[in-house]
Amino acid sequence: KYPKLTAVGAWRAGVGFDFDPKSTTAYGVDGRYGGFYTQDDIRDVVKYAAERHITIVPEIEMPGHSTAALAAYPQYSCTGGPFEPSTTAGIFNGIYDPAKEETLQFLAGVIAEVAPLFPGKYIHIGGDEVPKETWKNSADCQALMKREGLKNEEELQSWFIRRIEKIVNANGHSVIGWSEILQGGLPQNAAVMDWIGGAKEAAGAGHDVVMTPTAYCYFDFYQSSNHVTEPKAAAWGGPLTLDKMYAFEPMPTNVPPELQPHILGAQGNLWTEQIPNLQHAEYMTFPRACALAEVTWSAGEARNWNDFMRRLRIHVRRLDELNINYRHSAAQ
Ligand code: ACM
Repeated sequence: KYPKLTAVGAWRAGVGFDFDPKSTTAYGVDGRYGGFYTQDDIRDVVKYAAERHITIVPEIEMPGHSTAALAAYPQYSCTGGPFEPSTTAGIFNGIYDPAKEETLQFLAGVIAEVAPLFPGKYIHIGGDEVPKETWKNSADCQALMKREGLKNEEELQSWFIRRIEKIVNANGHSVIGWSEILQGGLPQNAAVMDWIGGAKEAAGAGHDVVMTPTAYCYFDFYQSSNHVTEPKAAAWGGPLTLDKMYAFEPMPTNVPPELQPHILGAQGNLWTEQIPNLQHAEYMTFPRACALAEVTWSAGEARNWNDFMRRLRIHVRRLDELNINYRHSAAQ
């Protein structure tokens, strides 16, 4: 429906991050870095995953982290742009203008087109890391806040997410979003991904929660305190070592027993804006995913680090058979 999303928004000017352009094969015919899934690709991915009892949940990030979409359709921003798909990581001013009804119509069009491809319950609508200055400086946004009786920009974000929730619900799905969707009031049926807090508040208000705290669940963090020994490509933060990930307890200690059924589980995050190729994605993911899987699929008292390592040394033979580029030194 919006062909510029794939023609413009899907492509960066270069790999960025000082990476060797040869470290990736993700180039278009004209030499730009990037790419996108066709609807047939997505059907394939969803089917492949379903055969393995995995549900794919798409994230359509809004109202922030939307520079790439706004590079394609700058009319849905407050400033009119221009924007360019970023070649650095960070929090950018590429955020949607919720005061334009056309913005909501555009996002409704995107959701209506994407939602039928995904049979799962949830559509993730992001909601994280929205710099509010743009809305503070926008006469339209300020007028909307006045009209709707919204006290601050957090309530404006909440107003926006509530509108989006109606659209997602109308397309037969439920909303899940990052911690920040709690600020300014949570939509009625939304679930939360807790990366910087909010599990207790969300569960207390009857919402489901997926735990993914930065301290334990970020596969894009360095997995050693000695960065010099890590491949140059793409890591930050941490260190988040294998043993630290294994020490993660997904059930937050401040959630009382009667609310614990709202904690659905945990998620590991691998942001790939600075992951140039699949090999490096595998390096960041394995064997930490083995630790996170055991942590989420076992009771706390059943876990034993030494026994995990004993089994991991055997398990990596399977990873070898599958030709997965795991971090070998973590499994020795
Ligand atoms: C996040 O890491 N911004 C959810």
